[in-house]
Amino acid sequence: MLKGRRILLGVTGGIAAYKAAEIVSSLRRAGAEVQVVMTRAAHNFITPLTLAVLSGHQVHTSLFDGGAEARHISLAAWGELLLVAPATADIIARAAAGIADDLLSTLLLSFDGPVVFCPAMNSKMYTHPAVQENLSVLERRGCHLMHPATGRLACGAEGPGRLPAAEVIVDYVSRLFAKQNDLAGLNVLVTAGPTREPLDPVRYLSNRSSGKMGYAVARAARERGAHVVLVSGPTALPAPAGVRLRHAETADEMYEAVMAHFPDCDVLVMAAAVADFRPAAKSERKIKKDGKRNLVLDLVPTRDILAAAGKIKTQQVIVGFAAETERLAETAVAKARAKGCDLVVANDVTVPGAGFEGDTNQVIFAFPDGRTQVLPLMDKQALAHRILDEVKMLRG
Ligand SMILES: Cc1cc2nc3c(=O)[nH]c(=O)nc-3n(C[C@H](O)[C@H](O)[C@H](O)COP(=O)(O)O)c2cc1C
Repeated sequence: MLKGRRILLGVTGGIAAYKAAEIVSSLRRAGAEVQVVMTRAAHNFITPLTLAVLSGHQVHTSLFDGGAEARHISLAAWGELLLVAPATADIIARAAAGIADDLLSTLLLSFDGPVVFCPAMNSKMYTHPAVQENLSVLERRGCHLMHPATGRLACGAEGPGRLPAAEVIVDYVSRLFAKQNDLAGLNVLVTAGPTREPLDPVRYLSNRSSGKMGYAVARAARERGAHVVLVSGPTALPAPAGVRLRHAETADEMYEAVMAHFPDCDVLVMAAAVADFRPAAKSERKIKKDGKRNLVLDLVPTRDILAAAGKIKTQQVIVGFAAETERLAETAVAKARAKGCDLVVANDVTVPGAGFEGDTNQVIFAFPDGRTQVLPLMDKQALAHRILDEVKMLRG
């Protein structure tokens, strides 16, 4: 599955560095050619000789051992993918800051292909805000992050921080190669986040959508070579690299933005949590509390973006989302039929780990022909790729 692929493996000084031997062996068994770059600290955990024997190449350890050859440049030109496994908190910080003080960090700046980081460390280190911020910087720049496994760590602590098993890493890398550019040339329109429906100059009605799911779909489609327009409600998320971002505050603005781009798109993924109702009128002044009187809001339905797109669709594949609290499969199939969707991704927002604010989601796929498929709990980036895999199949 990785036949002939040229993979650079960066090994850093974490306790899991010894597992690099297994990673090299598994990559080679899958048909890849592997060259290893080790940090100085990694030598404390595994010898270069082991990795040289297993990779069949000299292991690179210094910026300056290539003589007249600039190793970081020649290695960058050779590799098709750079995998850093295990990735210490230190290399993650140096990569995020753009520091180039050894061969691996300099290679990270010289290499313009896909980069995968597999963070592995004590869970207190992993969850430290400094590490998390550095990881989000790398993610924003388009690096791929494998989430560490959770369990008993080498130091005896329990929590996230374990390096995933070699075969899981190799599988991840294989999938990345398989997906490279498989959506090239497609125009993908994605919506994300909540909408805000103003009540008065300071108040609005909104919902708990973080936008993470839609942003993950936009990022995944871009990684796979699509042209992506992301219509986003207000979120705290940075724009994914290479994606055209359009802001829409209200359901009405989102409707206009989607309708403007829909005729030219091949795929619409409506992950936004668009308000179903808005105040009938926006008060020009701040509504004042008036003694003990109740305030009654008059709400009117917003325009239904999915249904409108479903009515005028030609060749487009339309993916809708449904957040439900009961009778998930039945409601999702009915929604797919009623709105002209080719696929509805539905989650029960009462289930822990599924839904709005977290990094994971547990969904079912529902199709207008009545088929449903239950997916396991997975992180939103992995789910984004599963949705796009399904879109590809629906396009035939
Ligand atoms: C016994 C031991 C185990 C360590 N394990 C880890 C680890 O699993 N993850 C990590 O981020 N740092 C770990 N460290 C700290 C790193 O070795 C240290 O931050 C080092 O500077 C990393 O350098 P490098 O990123 O250039 O490889 C460990 C240190 C020691 C002494």
